[in-house]
Formats: sequence, structure tokens, C-alpha cells
Amino acid sequence: MTELLVQAEQRGRVGLITLNRPKQLNALNDTLMDQLGAALLAFDADAQIGAIVITGGAKAFAAGADIEAMADWTYTDVYSSHFISRNWETIRQVRKPVLAAVAGFAMGGGCELALSCDIIVAAESARFALPEIKLALLPGAGGTQRLPRAIGKAKAMDMALSARMLDAQEADRYGLVSRVVPDEQLLEKTLALATQIAGYSTPALMAIKESVNRSFESSLTEGILFERRELHARFASEDAHEGMHAFLDKRKPVFQHR
Ligand code: HXC
Repeated sequence: MTELLVQAEQRGRVGLITLNRPKQLNALNDTLMDQLGAALLAFDADAQIGAIVITGGAKAFAAGADIEAMADWTYTDVYSSHFISRNWETIRQVRKPVLAAVAGFAMGGGCELALSCDIIVAAESARFALPEIKLALLPGAGGTQRLPRAIGKAKAMDMALSARMLDAQEADRYGLVSRVVPDEQLLEKTLALATQIAGYSTPALMAIKESVNRSFESSLTEGILFERRELHARFASEDAHEGMHAFLDKRKPVFQHR
């Protein structure tokens, strides 16, 4: 029987995914990434879910790709199996907001997984690093692309070339994370934020996520055109009319996620 390396549970309108390979500090192997991808897609397809949280353990969010698994792989192995592309990028298909709740080590592929999320909430204990250079590898799960977009070239080069580790406060200052919270409140605060977000109109959230992500893929003019079309499309939704009328009526909106 396949080992369960990811736990998925529903908390109201939030899908909570917990990486569960604690002895290996949640080192990300193929099975774990398959299970993570499946859990993400299941929550994304579930109309009762409005936002998703990925978390790890107290000591590690994830200490990176599984070095033991990779150590003897050849070029043909990774090329043929489509390593990384095959199951690490499933998260890019997810249209609902994904939050990472990070305590402890988020290293290498673990840091890259967090960077693939839309919002990172860091506990005070969180530590972020791209130490692949120490293995003569490189941050090959999007790290060389997402990190400079997140924190700029100067800090990204420093982290990727020297394996510099950032603590939570540095990560906050540089814009790598969205918020820093005390460790004992990490899950509670992240779930509260996810619950708040999940209470908004799901299609509106998707439109915002898609528009923000488009800003990394397009010129300003093209991006603004995309955003404008998304805005116009909101006027075809029941939720936008409900939201505006509820404001005028001084009542709470009731969104149907339509
Ligand atoms: C496999 C790992 C692992 C990893 C930790 N472990 N990280 N196993 N892959 N990435 C295992 C250890 O071997 C050890 O197993 C157990 O988890 C506990 O780890 P320790 O090292 O004993 O803990 P500690 O001394 O507290 O140090 C924590 C740590 C260190 C600083 C996070 O474990 C570490 O440096 N890990 C590697 C981090 C790293 O290089 N990540 C990048 C990987 S490459 P045993 O059996 O001894 O108890 C990568 C590339 C992604 O992510 C992009 C695609 C290529």
C-alpha cells in the first residue's frame, strides 16, 4: 500500500493540506508530490472550498527535494520521467488561492514550493534557503525564476549563489513572505486568513489570482488589457452585483460563487 505522505482535510471552506514525512523533514519525493498534486486538484474542483492552505511540521515546512532519492539518478532518468515538470507544477493549475503556512526549514524545493503559493504566512521560526548550490545542483523547481520576481536580483542571487539562509524577519523585509506570526499561532492565523479569503466570491478570487499572475508573463499594456477584460467580466457575475448592492443596502453580501 502506498504510504500517505500528505494529509488533506476540510476546515469550513478551506482545504488544509499537511505534508507528513516528518522523519525526513518533509523531503519532497515523487510519491509526496503526486499526493500533493492530487489533493490540490481535488480541493480546486470542490465547490465547497474557496481557499487552500499547505503546511508542514514545526521543524520543517519541507527541507527540499529528496536527496536520497535523487543521488544516483542519471540524466536519462530525470529526462525520461520529466522530473519536476511531471508533478511539481500541478500547483500552477490551481485557480483558487493557495496559502503556505511555513514553520521551520523551507529549503530548496521546499522554499520553491512555498514560492509557488499565492501567500506565504511565516512563523517566527521559518527559515528560507536555496542551498542546491552546495550539492552542485540548482534551484530547478522555479526558484531561479520566482525568487528574483519576488525579492529582486540582489537578494535572489545572494541566496542562490551562496546558499544564504533568511530568517522570518528578513524574509518579511525582502518581500518573500506576506506575514510573520508567532509559531504557536501559525495554523490558527493562516486558517483565519484563508477563511476570510474563502468567504469572498470564488470566481472573483480566481480572476484576481489570474490577473496578478499574468503580470509576470506580459508587458504592462497587455497585462492591463487582461485586467480590464477581467473587470468587465465581473459585471456578468451575480456576485459582483450582490456585493455592490449589499454595500449600498448596508448589509453583508451573500455570495453564491457565481
Ligand atoms: C532527503 C533529508 C533532506 C532532503 C533532511 N533530510 N533534508 N533527506 N532529502 N532534502 C533527512 C536527513 O538526512 C535526516 O535523515 C533527517 O532528514 C533529519 O535531518 P538532519 O540533517 O539530521 O536535521 P538537522 O541537523 O536539524 O538539519 C536540518 C537541515 C538539513 C538544515 C534542513 O537536514 C539539511 O541541510 N537538509 C538538506 C537541505 C537541502 O540541501 N535541500 C535542498 C535539496 S535539493 P536521517 O536518516 O539521518 O535521520 C532540492 C532541489 C529542488 O531541493 C529542485 C529540483 C532539483
